[in-house]
Amino acid sequence: MEKADIGMVGLGVMGSNLALNIAEKGFRVAVYDRDPAVVQQFYKNAGALSDKIIPCETFEALVENTRQPRPFIFLIKAGQPVDDETARLRLLLDKQDIIIDSGNSDYRDTVRRLKALGPNDPTFVGMGISGGAEGARHGASMMVGGTEAAYERIAPVLNAVAAQYEGEACVALMGPDGAGHFVKTIHNGIEYADMQMIAEIYGVLRDGLGLSAPAIGDIFAKWNEGALNSYLIEITAEVLRTQDPESGQAMVDIILDAAGQKGTGRWAAIEAQMMGVPASAIEAAVGARAVSSMRAERALAEKTYGTADHTVELEDQAAFINQLEQALLAGKIAAYAQGFVVMQAASKEHGWNIPLATVARIWRAGCIIRSQFLDDIAKAFDDGEADNLLLTPAFVEKMKASSGALRQVVAKAALGELPMPALSAALSYFDSFKQSRGTANLIQAQRDFFGAHGFERLDKQGDFHGPWGA
Ligand code: 6PG
Repeated sequence: MEKADIGMVGLGVMGSNLALNIAEKGFRVAVYDRDPAVVQQFYKNAGALSDKIIPCETFEALVENTRQPRPFIFLIKAGQPVDDETARLRLLLDKQDIIIDSGNSDYRDTVRRLKALGPNDPTFVGMGISGGAEGARHGASMMVGGTEAAYERIAPVLNAVAAQYEGEACVALMGPDGAGHFVKTIHNGIEYADMQMIAEIYGVLRDGLGLSAPAIGDIFAKWNEGALNSYLIEITAEVLRTQDPESGQAMVDIILDAAGQKGTGRWAAIEAQMMGVPASAIEAAVGARAVSSMRAERALAEKTYGTADHTVELEDQAAFINQLEQALLAGKIAAYAQGFVVMQAASKEHGWNIPLATVARIWRAGCIIRSQFLDDIAKAFDDGEADNLLLTPAFVEKMKASSGALRQVVAKAALGELPMPALSAALSYFDSFKQSRGTANLIQAQRDFFGAHGFERLDKQGDFHGPWGA
């Protein structure tokens, strides 16, 4: 029998969908899961695609049935399982073979795994995949970290199964070793910020304006036709317009207000902090999820401080709704700017050479944060006039046009006791970013006062101390 072009390890939701996608694009795929029953079931359910699928119940069979140099996509739980399966599979492989860990792995693990390989071991690729089950099945966005030779071997399959944006496949090599997983981590950090900002605006519409979920859904649907056009806005509109078949109420109204998180958004904030790069909107979004899960304390605090009257006093509701749209756009620009700065810093620190415009390009379709807006980002970086999005001419114009609305909205929300952790962080970041004379002179003075840490002066060069306590 003709050998497979690629092997798949793990037939959970992501693995099985990606394997079907690969088969559908005409490639042969050998599939393995540690539960043989899952392999058989998958093969049985594959229908017409089964002639492109080689079911394997052992690693030996998987290796035997895959064409050299053999690439194996791992879609298994991140962490220890990746180490365990790598250790088992590498015993059967040659040095030209490639293990592609495609889970939401910590890039530090990816770097460590690569380092641990000997000269005769297969190579290791860390690949971030975004787009969930639907993306895996019909076109995902894929961020690859590894060697160019490994990428060349797997690129034909990846190009075929990636989402397409105007004929361009949403997959690219982000750089060596951990670069792919790092970019995916930042994708998720941005995803958190984007979702949080949308939720904050939803809060104003629900609690400040007293609108119903379907009415808010209609507003988001309208916004989806403008500058905010994106997958997240589109699904927000759909979610808000959906009714719970059991109770007849809006589905969103009976969902518990405590957000889960698996960790990658938090990693983005941690990595930014570790490098001393501000990512305050992303951090705020991670923090907001944590606050959301403190339900009992929040209930107690509301009892203690009293229930706020969130009503936003308005003269012109339609004008305010337009302002909310602009505010969301400005907040989003600042959050994305932060995410790209974090990637650039990591790229420098690790010598990865992450192509920022390409990152934006492969996020235009397939991934959770996909949008038209990312095409604008790609073009802004292509122009090469600035590395920080907030200084690229196109985004300077956008911020000039929309940041006033963000300021108005954050101010109104503060007076209405409507929490806006991410949007207000975005605004403060923007305001401090564009302020040439900040207030850290006082912090320097304080540091010098209590710890003799020294400071620089505006009027002459050198390291100085103040006359404190003199
Ligand atoms: C994607 C998503 C995905 C992530 C979920 C849940 O790009 O397809 O980022 O990888 O696992 O969004 O993440 P949380 O549980 O942390 O919200």
